[in-house]
Amino acid sequence: MKVLECEAIIKQYRLYDHVVTAVNRASLTVEEGEFIAITGESGSGKSTFLHIAAGLDVPDSGSVRLLGKDIVNMKADELCRFRGKHTGFVFQSHRLVPYLTALENILLPISASGGDQGRVEHRLELLIDRLSLGDRLNHLPRELSGGQQQRVAIARALIHYPMVLFADEPTGNLDRKNAEDVTSLLVSLRDELKQTLVIVTHDETLADRADRAYRMVDGEMYVRR
Ligand SMILES: Nc1ncnc2c1ncn2[C@@H]1O[C@H](COP(=O)(O)OP(=O)(O)OP(=O)(O)O)[C@@H](O)[C@H]1O
Ligand SMILES: [Mg+2]
Repeated sequence: MKVLECEAIIKQYRLYDHVVTAVNRASLTVEEGEFIAITGESGSGKSTFLHIAAGLDVPDSGSVRLLGKDIVNMKADELCRFRGKHTGFVFQSHRLVPYLTALENILLPISASGGDQGRVEHRLELLIDRLSLGDRLNHLPRELSGGQQQRVAIARALIHYPMVLFADEPTGNLDRKNAEDVTSLLVSLRDELKQTLVIVTHDETLADRADRAYRMVDGEMYVRR
């Protein structure tokens, strides 16, 4: 089953009389369970593309289908619900809510949608165990290390059984050791859950482990290697 179909995405930014083409006719199709990596130089359009693919931003032209549904022309409130239900997003910097504990942050996708916490009990236990967060659940984000914060962000992105997990350089803010730990946790979780994963990364060895890897150059999407 095709989980995600992005076709000929174009996104331009206009700054006064200057036009930047951030994404230039980029296409990507993702099958259920696939692990896709996107690499590319800084400024090549990776984040812009990923945000559009995940329904966090809209393209100037081109189409995005998530689980067969056109999300570009979806009404804002419907998109918000649809995206919240079927996708998880891990940002470069964790973007945790500072005044909520680790546990409250992890459960945010459930509480925000008025969902039943009991329904995710099993997944919560699994994520806490695999991400080694058991003794940190009542801490605030500022009381956690960078690696722990990012692990909480990963748990939050996976708590509601999303069809697709998007991650935009999830280890970009960490030192090498922490980055490697978080990356290997993310990939082993992905294998265990058979989770569809689309990840933007600078890490070429991580891209080597993906089912398919792409490289963005000046907004265009190329098959890597
Ligand atoms: N809100 C914005 N307004 C104007 N230009 C933007 C905006 N967001 C991105 N751009 C420009 O679009 C291009 C692509 O940016 P993008 O953030 O997608 O790149 P990236 O590949 O994710 O880079 P990095 O690896 O540094 O995160 C860049 O030239 C950037 O300056
Ligand atoms: Mg980026």
